[in-house]
Amino acid sequence: ASSGPLAGKHVIVTSGPTHEPIDPVRYIANRSSGKQGHAIAKAAVEAGARVTLISGPVTLPDPAGVTIVHVESAREMLQAVEKALPADIGIFAAAVADWRVANAGEQKIKKKDGALPNLSLTENPDILATISHRTESRPPLMVGFAAETEHVIEHAKQKLAKKGCDLIVANDVSTAGGVMGGDSNTVHLVTASDVETWPTLSKTDVAKKLIGHLSAMAEGAKS
Ligand code: C5P
Repeated sequence: ASSGPLAGKHVIVTSGPTHEPIDPVRYIANRSSGKQGHAIAKAAVEAGARVTLISGPVTLPDPAGVTIVHVESAREMLQAVEKALPADIGIFAAAVADWRVANAGEQKIKKKDGALPNLSLTENPDILATISHRTESRPPLMVGFAAETEHVIEHAKQKLAKKGCDLIVANDVSTAGGVMGGDSNTVHLVTASDVETWPTLSKTDVAKKLIGHLSAMAEGAKS
């Protein structure tokens, strides 16, 4: 058996973007690299947890010691999370696409003279909100991320309430910082009663510090 502050705990981490098919060869995606989510999964393993990492398409190697589930779309990600339950902690760092193509083609859409394909969008499930609002087997500690370009704390507080999670890790992704795809991150930890701002750290250090913080929170919830 492993030792460490999260020994005996099951942690589910989502990471990376999702790809939403337009047809078998095309998709809608976003610029998430998965670096922060994967670093969190690694840090949770180092803290002794059993970790299920549910990852969208990324170019990163699978971290050692995790149970990895590779998915493409938001709907596949939700299914994989539900299958991985129960868990003690859910950390949802994936940048899930908000929309998917409702009328995705089963065959490659052909270019026709002058005619443009008509793609209609439909909303994807919100994985964090769905799992946080479950009455059965909701992980007792649910953590979401919020990438904001302005009013970071205010938007994080609104997100905390709307999604029903226990903690939001908010970061400013306005272009100057280069957070998307970059190696460092400046975050604020927002709970219903508290805001804690951390200095700019590498994504590895944010992950380690976050896992330390969550270990203490999980410990506190027990008593
Ligand atoms: O609403 P927004 O995308 O800003 O919320 C971000 C948080 O919600 C992240 O933790 C992300 O993983 C989660 N999320 C989700 N499913 C979605 C959209 C966001 O789990 N469809």
